Amino acid sequence: MKNISVNVNAKLSLINKNIFGHFSEHLGRCIYEGIYVGESSSIPNTKGIRDDVADALRQLEVPVLRWPGGCFADEYHWMDGIGKKSGRKKMINTHWGGVTEDNSFGTHEFFDLCELIGCEPYIAGNLGSGTVQEMSQWIEYMTFGGKSPMSDLRKKNGREEPWKLKYFGIGNESWGCGGNMRPQYYADLYRQYQTYCRNYDGNELYKVACGPNADDYNWTEELLKIVKPWHTKAISLHYYTIPTGDWGKKGDAVEFTDEEYYNTIKNAVKIDEIITRHLDIMSAYDPKHEIGLIVDEWGNWFDVEKGTNPGFLYQQNTMRDAVTAAFNLDIFIKHSDRVVMANIAQAVNVLQSVILTEGEKMVKTPTYHVFDLYRPHMEGEKLFICADSSDKDGVPTLSCSASVKDDTVFFTVTNADLNNDEELEVTFGDFMPSKIKAEIITADDIHEHNTFDSSENVTVNKFENFAFNGNKLKIKLPKSSVAGFTIKQ
Ligand code: AHR
Repeated sequence: MKNISVNVNAKLSLINKNIFGHFSEHLGRCIYEGIYVGESSSIPNTKGIRDDVADALRQLEVPVLRWPGGCFADEYHWMDGIGKKSGRKKMINTHWGGVTEDNSFGTHEFFDLCELIGCEPYIAGNLGSGTVQEMSQWIEYMTFGGKSPMSDLRKKNGREEPWKLKYFGIGNESWGCGGNMRPQYYADLYRQYQTYCRNYDGNELYKVACGPNADDYNWTEELLKIVKPWHTKAISLHYYTIPTGDWGKKGDAVEFTDEEYYNTIKNAVKIDEIITRHLDIMSAYDPKHEIGLIVDEWGNWFDVEKGTNPGFLYQQNTMRDAVTAAFNLDIFIKHSDRVVMANIAQAVNVLQSVILTEGEKMVKTPTYHVFDLYRPHMEGEKLFICADSSDKDGVPTLSCSASVKDDTVFFTVTNADLNNDEELEVTFGDFMPSKIKAEIITADDIHEHNTFDSSENVTVNKFENFAFNGNKLKIKLPKSSVAGFTIKQ
């Protein structure tokens, strides 16, 4: 029996809903086919955007969507993606399969997508191969309402009113695919580029500087010697979970051993220490904590599915992904006083997707269902939790979070153990639960996943294996499961 104590009176930081954000890149079948099929497609669509996918993302209450990359962002020239589609310039997507990008999905289509989903746009600007003028004009095109060359061009292209744009990243992975820069060089460039990203007509940009790759603490340190709170609102962190730790042979998405499974968790939870250490460095340079940390790319990265284009990064998604998604979200919630956003890579058909598509078919993955289950944590107040630990050869197998909103407590808990159910006794201080609704995501086999022919193998189901007495909640949590409890007094 493990004990968990939730202190309902110890309200900690607000859980920013942007922690449940998503990322969409011009990569493989994420944008094209996955999200955008064009108006002439036989797949039901609105302005070329798939209705089924937009509906599924809207149901998830996706708060924010990052675009157009990733590595693609630093070779994207926005002017190629506006105006009449037949006149749009084509380019080679050199990072992702060398395919021809026809630019039919551009700025206007991205804002249409965000409107359909009901989310905030987060745009990554091109610092790697674009000019200061190009970036500055993009901001003017999107956000300036008065008369100017760029707003006239936007109006000519059918959009009278400027859009509201808050989140704007200046360069992506500038330490790697975004220009292979040294932190000092990038930091100076960042200061220059951001100068010309203006706030027009009351639109206030929330500028994001390219932060570190995983545990590159030197990048954070050197960056923050030069980039100050008056230059940036946040810095980004990218961290991917590779089961084997070997980028050359990452491991299969569906066929994995128990050892690989536990190693995936071991590598996923490393992000906790990584975040902690970056935040410590950030505190030294920004003691008032004015600069936030955005984990703008995270998730499991496996070998691509056999028979698919290696540059398209398509992978299946199993119950293992559900478990690691829950562990990750718990870590972001734990750090929610300073982690202001996190975007899983990527929304559709790429890496740890929440949605997979094949022609007109669409399936929600186990990861989708975890995001769905966790929705009540959005904008809740994180509660102090003290939990016994549980592990398998040193790899944690128990993870949980609790929040409160409008006098309703929401508690999520994951049992990652492959063979053993976990008995839990959860107490809530002087909060006496009277009404509990519980849901669970689980599968007998950790390799279970959803397919286009059998789409409900892993989904959210009602859970009843619990009892409460006074302020105590006793739960028998099945092996390999993620559960959520909505508790009213
Ligand atoms: O998400 C796939 C790629 O991973 C992104 O383009 C890049 O930023 C990262 O290396």
